[in-house]
Amino acid sequence: MRVGLLTGGGDCPGLNAVIRAVVRKGERHYGDELVGFRDGWKGVLEDATMVLDVERCRGILPRGGTILGTSRTNPYKVEDGVKKALDSLRKERIDALIAIGGEDTLGVANKLGAEGVGVVGVPKTIDNDLSCTEVTFGFDTAVQIASDAIDRLHTTAESHDRVMVVEVMGRHAGWIATEAGIAGGAAEILIPEEQFDIERVCDDLKKRHAKGRFASIVVVAEGAEPMKGTMATQSNEVDAFGHVRLGGISNLVAEEIEKRTGFETRVTILGHVQRGGTPTAFDRILATRFGIAAIDAAHDGAFGQMVAVQGGEIVRVPIADAVGQLKTVDKELFHGVAEVFFS
Ligand code: F6P
Repeated sequence: MRVGLLTGGGDCPGLNAVIRAVVRKGERHYGDELVGFRDGWKGVLEDATMVLDVERCRGILPRGGTILGTSRTNPYKVEDGVKKALDSLRKERIDALIAIGGEDTLGVANKLGAEGVGVVGVPKTIDNDLSCTEVTFGFDTAVQIASDAIDRLHTTAESHDRVMVVEVMGRHAGWIATEAGIAGGAAEILIPEEQFDIERVCDDLKKRHAKGRFASIVVVAEGAEPMKGTMATQSNEVDAFGHVRLGGISNLVAEEIEKRTGFETRVTILGHVQRGGTPTAFDRILATRFGIAAIDAAHDGAFGQMVAVQGGEIVRVPIADAVGQLKTVDKELFHGVAEVFFS
């Protein structure tokens, strides 16, 4: 079989581990030829490929990023994009295409599947917001990086008796904020799923600080939004999938906290640090399991399916179900656990 492979959307630690696993089992077990498309759907549109074999994949298991490169190119937003994609897949004689990506990349895979392309999906999103899978690789690494950062911020916050606002990734879902906030002992966590009341946040901080010197950590997901009309917001530019480029809500939150409470407040935006570097052992193992399951699915002709984790087991689910709606933060985890430690 000739199996194509691409990584699309924002990168995350563990992509290389998936690629390595697909290549290893494909080449050694099935005798496949593996074709890597560069930079996500852009490589398919431009027929930009690289040879993938076991030798090329040596040493990549612990490396973050993706040796294939990635982009947020959407063939459905490019003139003749679908025709170009189908032509190059035909030219490369691709029997199966393994697309590693989030809702955008897999949304395109799903549509190309309807055009007759044999696609298999591998879920990838640092935000952990893809449905039908309990977890995606890269998320554990991001939570670890964010909670390590929060630990460091605690000590400097304590020395100065300050409020520290920490902005983490999470465009539509606050999984990183919630889990890193729980792990890091946050006094407040603001997530996209629940519009926040800045007055309530400030009152809680005042109560907390009234009891003595109490440095506070406020974790803010980049997509968090205040209740309408309660404080200033900003507008940002939009990408090919219609997503606003986020970043900066923490500055506004910090300004309001300082203004309303009088507490000295500082901001740390973790940004792409959360997506870089070496994956945790958990993510390497999950990514490896996904890679092996994906090449097996391709050989079973399980097209239009995405590999996923359910109850700790690797299963197959329709890509259409996974991209249908986002997986938002578990209410019990947020209200029943995280919120207990607020203020
Ligand atoms: O989609 C995942 C994500 O990490 C979001 O949390 C974040 O808003 C976005 O990607 C950042 O995208 P870029 O790498 O294009 O700046």
